[in-house]
Amino acid sequence: MTARTLFLLPGDGIGPEAMTEVRKIVAFMNDAMDAGFVTDEGLVGGSAYDAHGAAISEADMEKAMTADAVLFGAVGGPKWDDVPYDVRPEAGLLRLRKDLELYANLRPAICYPALASASSLKPELVEGLDILIVRELTGGVYFGEPKTITDLGNGQKRAIDTQVYDTYEIERISAIAFELARTRNNRVCSMEKRNVMKSGVLWNQVVTALHKDKYSDVKLDHMLADAGGMQLVRAPKQFDVIVTDNLFGDMLSDVAAMLTGSLGMLPSASLGSPDAKTGKRKALYEPVHGSAPDISGKGIANPIAMIASFAMCLRYSFNMITEADNLEKAIATVLDNGIRTGDIMAEGCRQVGTAEMGDAILAEFKALSA
Ligand code: IPM
Ligand code: MG
Repeated sequence: MTARTLFLLPGDGIGPEAMTEVRKIVAFMNDAMDAGFVTDEGLVGGSAYDAHGAAISEADMEKAMTADAVLFGAVGGPKWDDVPYDVRPEAGLLRLRKDLELYANLRPAICYPALASASSLKPELVEGLDILIVRELTGGVYFGEPKTITDLGNGQKRAIDTQVYDTYEIERISAIAFELARTRNNRVCSMEKRNVMKSGVLWNQVVTALHKDKYSDVKLDHMLADAGGMQLVRAPKQFDVIVTDNLFGDMLSDVAAMLTGSLGMLPSASLGSPDAKTGKRKALYEPVHGSAPDISGKGIANPIAMIASFAMCLRYSFNMITEADNLEKAIATVLDNGIRTGDIMAEGCRQVGTAEMGDAILAEFKALSA
């Protein structure tokens, strides 16, 4: 069998702790299922800055470009607050997204039944929640030029960020949203600010035209992004797939994450276009949470988002659907059994650390795979 290559970038803070739990699952899959994963590992973020003075080295970029999939932990921390802007930890992640052309960021927000009471909303509002945010990831204000701070010479400075979207960028991300909606509840809600932004006007036009042309079987709604944020916390279950730009997607996905009980629960997949020859998409999988410097090194971080990101990797990069389903089921079972990390701890449950949570999920995964 051909090897399945995984490039691990654990990063900073709780990233390495969470990645350790994924490594255990990979090792099991190689031993027991002959999965043929070959892993290599690199540095990204502050840890790369400390070693190479860059947020990711050229050698590691090369490895990321050629791997079947990249597994990414988290970057950043107060230690690197004052490093130059170009080499700040986040620059490593942004460069990976841009250079690998990972324009489609899938952020599912699923509320596990056992966690409905951990949400900041009433349990009945989030019980059974299953929405998918499809965030555009390589355009918009994150990458638009000019992006500058200029000294105006009169004691004032001027900062400029530029929101730019071309038709093709909006088309390809909305196509992904429509395709995925067809495998779910067949509904897409597109969010922009067409009442204020030209990019919102074009976004709305392109999504509408593509829908009419190719996806009229899918139910399409449009919402202004601010109203969308409000609806997400008012009645989140009204949504199936939400498609939105890079910046709104960043904010709305944090909101959606918290609905599910903890930021420590949400995985994500960032995908590129299928390769013309091999049909394979470049892909990076990462938890939505950050490096959580306040709890890093203590062995108490929740590894579920990282493990669920690996489940997405099995599904989208390797088409290992049964294995992905089983890994997701294993997470749900462990939660049903009342095992919790501190961030999702509830009365009557048993609080465990990162390694014990990872081991419990692995044990369930083994049982399901037997
Ligand atoms: C995310 C993060 C990143 C983003 C940061 C770390 C650059 O917040 O993936 O949501 O803003 O995209
Ligand atoms: Mg974010």
